Amino acid sequence: MSAAPRKRVAVLISGRGSNMTALIEAAKAPDYPAEIVLVMSNVPEAGGLATAQANGIATCVVDHRAFGKDREAFEHAMQDVLATYHIDIVCLAGFMRLLTPWFVGQWQGRMLNIHPALLPAFKGLDTHARALAAGATQHGATVHFVVPEMDAGPIIVQGAVDVLPDDTEATLAARVLAVEHRIYPEALRRVAEDRSKP
Ligand code: GAR
Repeated sequence: MSAAPRKRVAVLISGRGSNMTALIEAAKAPDYPAEIVLVMSNVPEAGGLATAQANGIATCVVDHRAFGKDREAFEHAMQDVLATYHIDIVCLAGFMRLLTPWFVGQWQGRMLNIHPALLPAFKGLDTHARALAAGATQHGATVHFVVPEMDAGPIIVQGAVDVLPDDTEATLAARVLAVEHRIYPEALRRVAEDRSKP
């Protein structure tokens, strides 16, 4: 029996792309059910672009600033590229643009996001500082399906860390980031194998 074809994945980034790198590394395993075929950024200077290129992965910049306030025009430009590469699954990995219901609808059940908190706690930005300020004893990261509402949608995998008494925003962020790098490849595996559905 031949193995199922690997799912074609695009990773969307805005910055350094350490989660993107974790996905690229995981997908190097011969039995991983997905391949990273495209890395797309809305920020031309995103550090992750060079990492992707060094791994022989196609990259593309769709600069949102070129579209002014027209978010759907920006997204149509991204959608055209995703169609060219016959993408099956989109992974948002530090992609810092809000997406319209139109774009989310194009990828319903096929678009994942990673968020640096144990959703539904601490949606939005500055999650580590807010977790510390709230006196949380547990914090972590969540991979979820993207729905029109920000940082919502069915959860695929979560990973938790204890908040330590002497934690700073930086130490907590570093521990959570290590969890992110573990759970994002696991979540993508589940979705690519059709084991996790919204
Ligand atoms: C990650 O911590 C990710 O969870 C977060 O941005 C960072 C990107 O780092 N995403 C969000 O805050 C989305 N709202 P990376 O570029 O090294 O993967």
